[in-house]
Amino acid sequence: MTTELFINPRFERDRVYGAKEKAILSVAAGEEARAAISQWPGYAPTPLRSLEELAKETGVAAIHYKDEDARFVTKSFKAMGGAYAVERLAREAKGQALTVTCATDGNHGRAVAWGAQRAGIKAVIFIHEGVSEGRAEAIRSFGAEVRREGKHYDDSVRRAAEVAAQNGWQIVSDTSWPGYQDVPKLVMQGYALLAAESLDQGTAPTHVFVQGGVGGLAAGVLSWFWEKQGAQRPKTIVVEPDRAACLLASAKAGALKNADGDLETIMAGLACGEASAIAWDILEHGADAFMAIPDDAAADTMRKLALYGIVGGESGVAGLAGFRVVANDPAMRSALGIDASSRILAIGTEGDTDPVVYREIVGSTGEDIRKKRAA
Ligand SMILES: Cc1ncc(COP(=O)(O)O)c(C=O)c1O
Repeated sequence: MTTELFINPRFERDRVYGAKEKAILSVAAGEEARAAISQWPGYAPTPLRSLEELAKETGVAAIHYKDEDARFVTKSFKAMGGAYAVERLAREAKGQALTVTCATDGNHGRAVAWGAQRAGIKAVIFIHEGVSEGRAEAIRSFGAEVRREGKHYDDSVRRAAEVAAQNGWQIVSDTSWPGYQDVPKLVMQGYALLAAESLDQGTAPTHVFVQGGVGGLAAGVLSWFWEKQGAQRPKTIVVEPDRAACLLASAKAGALKNADGDLETIMAGLACGEASAIAWDILEHGADAFMAIPDDAAADTMRKLALYGIVGGESGVAGLAGFRVVANDPAMRSALGIDASSRILAIGTEGDTDPVVYREIVGSTGEDIRKKRAA
């Protein structure tokens, strides 16, 4: 298990958020997504929780944790992307029969299934061997068919693409590949609203710690700060599991590169070996640093948040876990310019999306922790 912080040599603070970037993600397209999503029943910005005790403990001015445990019925930020893309595709189909499909580690499939249920269309979701039965059941609960094929996420991405081509189904992927970009752009555009909501909620971060799977979330969040704030934007630190660090590997190589690790991590949503090309296009010059953390760091942060009455899942806490690793390491602190005036934003992307695993790690159920907070 290793921890690593890599300062991005291709980072350019003064680079303008220009036409190339805006063709992928833009505030204008984000406002369009916000207009649609804010009409959904149950929509409300998720809480931005101030972790005052942890800020004191780690010697910074403030830590804000964007808590996606409360996001619709799906308990993760993924609803903002997958379900939004499905809604747009269903709208474009204008009543024609449409079946949507995707590969997933759990959360994206849940979002696509939920979106398809809302739109009244069929969804077939591909999962791999490593996805727990609890996660499969959660997807089925939204009326989708679940097919288990392949050893890893990247295998099920390929399988979903093959079966979709045979059947004329529409792929709703959170990752892009040559010739397939429009739908992942919609997905990422929905994710960017986490940054929009956080700014509206009054955070003014100096550092954003955001976890990376294929990179879509990190690119979405960064794009919003970058276009809105230009060179004044906060530092962006992308955090990945040490065994699935494809973005860190790409940053080191200076080009898209697969992860070296075996992808075996409790951070199931981040167990991706291949980065999304369009996400990389934003992160390559926009992200300040990339880091890898071991599973222990995530598990420890889940327990820490539970003490404050906050339910964060294994992948959900990874950004905050990355910050805690940095906070305890003088060399990393100094490399990122973290001091007593720093204001940290950590994107808490999921609650207990796998309740069984959550209980194993934390020792209590998510329900119990939420009750403690309410009491
Ligand atoms: C809970 C959670 N957080 C973060 C991510 C990472 O998002 P991305 O793959 O867009 O980098 C995922 C992806 O599935 C996830 O499920």
